[in-house]
Amino acid sequence: MELVGKAAPYLASHGSASPRLDAELLLAEALGVKRMDLYLQFDRPLAEAEVARFRALCRRRAGGEPIAYIRGRREFMSVDLLVSPAVMIPRPETELLVEEALKISGAGLGPPTPTRVLDVGTGSGAIAVAMAVHHAACRVVATDNSAEALAVAGHNVERHEVQDRVELRLTDLAAGVEGRFDLVLANLPYIDRDWPEAVTSEVLASEPSAALFGGRNGLELVARLLDDVPRLLAQDGAVLLEVDPRNAAGAVALASRLGGASLLKDLAGRDRVVVVRP
Ligand SMILES: C[S@@+](CC[C@H](N)C(=O)[O-])C[C@H]1O[C@@H](n2cnc3c(N)ncnc32)[C@H](O)[C@@H]1O
Repeated sequence: MELVGKAAPYLASHGSASPRLDAELLLAEALGVKRMDLYLQFDRPLAEAEVARFRALCRRRAGGEPIAYIRGRREFMSVDLLVSPAVMIPRPETELLVEEALKISGAGLGPPTPTRVLDVGTGSGAIAVAMAVHHAACRVVATDNSAEALAVAGHNVERHEVQDRVELRLTDLAAGVEGRFDLVLANLPYIDRDWPEAVTSEVLASEPSAALFGGRNGLELVARLLDDVPRLLAQDGAVLLEVDPRNAAGAVALASRLGGASLLKDLAGRDRVVVVRP
């Protein structure tokens, strides 16, 4: 833990916003233990190789590499997901979308009702796998137009043993996907490159730009998907779309053509998820 105390100011001076947490996660990674175990073993002397491993990880973090890519993992909805630079790192904001989808599908209230879910732009498989793990009677079709991203999603589907209920499809949005779905979920790229300070330099340098930028106003992909919703949505179904607060009103305007659209706020009080219930 003394090493953590030394590394934290170094990481802070290289731009880390959570230097102590980063240092703890990297030390746990270097030692191959859980972060909580650091507190239990904090006075164990470290081998030279362990210290060298920790220093190497800290150098990568100081160079701007996100913690999730260094560790190769990120927790989402209490599900441990593998991540690589081929996929966007799942964000806490997206948990709001999944929580609402679970609520709408009645998960956790009595015996689970069969629910057909479409996750468009699945990336690491975060939404698809979390839905399958937390809702025992849901079947998910998850799409992405990146084969590399789908390979990561495939690992996560197998890791959580939901391959019998999650089908991955390499396609543009929902092209070629047949059938109707009770829930159409999407966290598509929704940033406009022209927005000032659209994303941090760390995100821009590390995460796939195809996962970030959604064309003009960040709404081009969302608009295309909404055009396809009448074909995809089952009766009494719902569409949940994660958006940027800067384009939330625009997304609601687009979605209103289908029927009742409303907005959910994230923990910071910003408009974040559009819910459409035609
Ligand atoms: C913002 S990331 C979200 C990933 C994941 N759903 C999550 O919430 O963490 C968007 C994903 O959409 C995919 N994508 C971008 N354009 C697409 C398209 N036209 N069709 C299908 N997927 C697309 C990207 O490859 C990326 O994996």
